Amino acid sequence: MENHDTDSKINIFKKYLNVDNPYKGGKTLAEIKAQTHKLYKLSSNENPIGASPKAVAAIQKAVQNLHLYPDRTDARLRTALATFYNNELDENQFVVANSGSETLELIIRAFMSEGHECIISNPTFLIYQMISKWQGAKINDVPLLEPNFILDIEGILAKVNDNTRLLFLTSPNNPTGTYIPKEDLDTIIERLPDHVILVLDEVYYHFADAEDYATALPYVKAGKQVIGINSFSKTYGLAAMRIGYFYTTEKIANYIHQICKPFILNKLSLEAGIAALGDTEFIQATVDLVKKERAYMEAEMKKIGVHFWPSQGNFILTKPPMEEKVFEAKMLDLGVMVRPVSAFGAPGCVRITIGTREANDACLAALVKIYQKS
Ligand SMILES: Cc1ncc(COP(=O)(O)O)c(C=O)c1O
Repeated sequence: MENHDTDSKINIFKKYLNVDNPYKGGKTLAEIKAQTHKLYKLSSNENPIGASPKAVAAIQKAVQNLHLYPDRTDARLRTALATFYNNELDENQFVVANSGSETLELIIRAFMSEGHECIISNPTFLIYQMISKWQGAKINDVPLLEPNFILDIEGILAKVNDNTRLLFLTSPNNPTGTYIPKEDLDTIIERLPDHVILVLDEVYYHFADAEDYATALPYVKAGKQVIGINSFSKTYGLAAMRIGYFYTTEKIANYIHQICKPFILNKLSLEAGIAALGDTEFIQATVDLVKKERAYMEAEMKKIGVHFWPSQGNFILTKPPMEEKVFEAKMLDLGVMVRPVSAFGAPGCVRITIGTREANDACLAALVKIYQKS
């Protein structure tokens, strides 16, 4: 029998899988709670008012039949999505998966392998880079232009070559909170060659209120090679359920559906997603609260002297006057969990999620203490 241990001449490990920068999610409340008493979690951009009550009721009902397989496909949720988009899109233009992150994985697996390339603009969400690496693709980083984290359009277009398949753009962007004006999206889409697909991650779109903000919708409707990424983790408050979707041209959606497993969504997620889309009251309450509290936080942070970037998301990027890990620890001592984001390409910066007024006031009180002493 052949010996396939580590001395073997045949290397069974893919050379591009020795990841040097693994993704570590934010800590859970349970991990931290052992250390302190009263704690506000402002570290993972979660919904400050909880989960959609309609989704919770649907989950409770669905729990009764756990012995039965769920729907074989995501068709019922896709139909609900088409209704949610006022039938401006066909249900065959949607693809559903277990989280926005998994939809990204499907796209990356479908379009890239060794020899292919993608473009990202750091600081941004780490998952694009992480999963592209799994496929052995080359990642070209065209950083956002400081100090205001503006997209380097010419730099991006200059990086495109025959091997480029995906361009990842995020609006509003995590962790900077910045957005891409419609005019810039128009320019990029007009000038991208046909073999490059624009993946526009808009999971925070409900919170954007800039006049020239745009989602992928008008481009997809116009038949452009654009994919709009969405998640149920933020506005619908269903982060624990792991549900996400994207919409695109029917051709791209059909192509990607070929690598979706049967029974891709579990019964609880499927029913929760359908119910959440119809929970307009909850969506409105979430959006109203985030916008109001975001304005409050930005005004108060200015008074304290916190260096931050104005945000279109449900979080604010800050640059504390000390090493980010030290700042994180001080905030934790004062009962507030925040997220250092050097792994997202923003060294020295910390992201703070918008919470309820009570959580935000706790956060501001902690900031006052830290800034007065530094
Ligand atoms: C920009 C962005 N895209 C996608 C996601 C993925 O969300 P989920 O995998 O929870 O659906 C997140 C989560 O934080 C995000 O910030």
